[in-house]
Amino acid sequence: MSDFAELHFEGEVYKLPVVEGTENEKALDISKLRGQSGLITIDPGYKNTGSTESAITFLDGEKGILRYRGYPIEQLAEKSSFLEVAFLIIYGELPNAEELKKWETEITYHTLIHEDFKVLLEGFPSNAHPMGVLSSCVTALTAFYPDSLDPVRSKDEVRISIVRLMAKLPTLASWAYKNEIGQPLLYPKNSMDYASNFLRMMFATPAEDFDPDPVVVNALNTLLILHADHEQNCSTSTVRIVGSSHASLYASVSAGINALWGPLHGGANQAVIEMLEAIKSDGGDADKYLAKAKDKDDPFRLMGFGHRVYKNFDPRARIIKKAADDVLGKLGVNDPILDIAKKLEESALSDPYFVERKLYPNVDFYSGIIYRALRIPTNMFTVMFALGRLPGWIGQWKEMRENNEPIGRPRQVYTGENERDYTDVSKR
Ligand code: CMC
Repeated sequence: MSDFAELHFEGEVYKLPVVEGTENEKALDISKLRGQSGLITIDPGYKNTGSTESAITFLDGEKGILRYRGYPIEQLAEKSSFLEVAFLIIYGELPNAEELKKWETEITYHTLIHEDFKVLLEGFPSNAHPMGVLSSCVTALTAFYPDSLDPVRSKDEVRISIVRLMAKLPTLASWAYKNEIGQPLLYPKNSMDYASNFLRMMFATPAEDFDPDPVVVNALNTLLILHADHEQNCSTSTVRIVGSSHASLYASVSAGINALWGPLHGGANQAVIEMLEAIKSDGGDADKYLAKAKDKDDPFRLMGFGHRVYKNFDPRARIIKKAADDVLGKLGVNDPILDIAKKLEESALSDPYFVERKLYPNVDFYSGIIYRALRIPTNMFTVMFALGRLPGWIGQWKEMRENNEPIGRPRQVYTGENERDYTDVSKR
């Protein structure tokens, strides 16, 4: 393989080094191009731009491959626990028994939230979206832990921030929900595992405790693993770019939560259920909505379909579809929404519009159906995605810091007015 490519421009030849990853992915290094030639590259939406070299997640969108640190998602989803996968993503290797015990104990130990947080939560109106509340609360952690905000000063500060964030996010997420529905906030019960503890904080009340069904705990564990990382994407790249200014882990992750919120990203799981509900209340005619999705004059898109990188299938969607069938079967839930989803998927997969554009169900198409079966309210779906994605954001932020990456600062091609003179307001 040649280790450089040549760019011919205005009589000059510029050599661009070729960078190769461990899965033989090749990239042109253009970092010195502007200095040599005055040229920059332009790529709206970064569709063809690698912003970093990363050793965390490999995905091949054509072949439908997703691996965390080399381990196939199918194996992790079947055999692993979310905290084990989180350790793998953040620290690079699966933990041994002793490391896993220490990690679980540390996270259990830090689940409590400072009592003053209650005042903060009470300040939000009850109809506040829990994603907004969650990102605000994560930013607010900076106020409660000023001793561990510096990402450069010491590794211990970073380590304790990681543990605190992993431990406290489920508590904060459940508190955002309790605040919304006007129920008393529940404290974590540290004898429980990560997923069970979260479910209990969501559904128990001081009047009645809640012991989650193992089927539900297992399903949640799988969903969290499937969402744990997805290499560079809108929220993860946001976390890296905010962190590149040496902002704290909490500030960076809070920005990631906001980026995830949009319906084209993590907000899609909520949008899918809202779309399926709308189809149901409109008589259940899936084909009518397929036609709307294909109509270029109609802004409607089939939510849960299409992906920037997966162009044959999303391996997470395969696992989730099976999990949805299992969970609904075991819990005895008969959800008419599932039938509409299956009909929509079947019709879209044989429709030339979707086939030609390689639009397949993505991870969010079926995740909302499982969340509904687990009694998670619709506006908490994206919060569930955030809980799952947290190890990915942390691992990517840590990698960026350890590689001492420069501050993120893209360029632009200016298309505005050329220089002109100011005119007095009376003459405009
Ligand atoms: N329904 C109808 N048409 C679609 C859809 C859709 N869901 N997705 C893409 N298209 C069409 C689009 O109109 C365009 O058509 P044309 O070539 O005729 O102009 C073509 O397919 C390519 O679309 P694009 O917007 O250029 O593709 P993208 O890679 O920029 O966007 C996407 C990817 C996920 C934003 C998009 O497919 C979409 O909006 N999907 C619905 C939202 C969704 O489910 N998002 C969750 C993504 S998975 C969770 C995560 O990782 O964030």
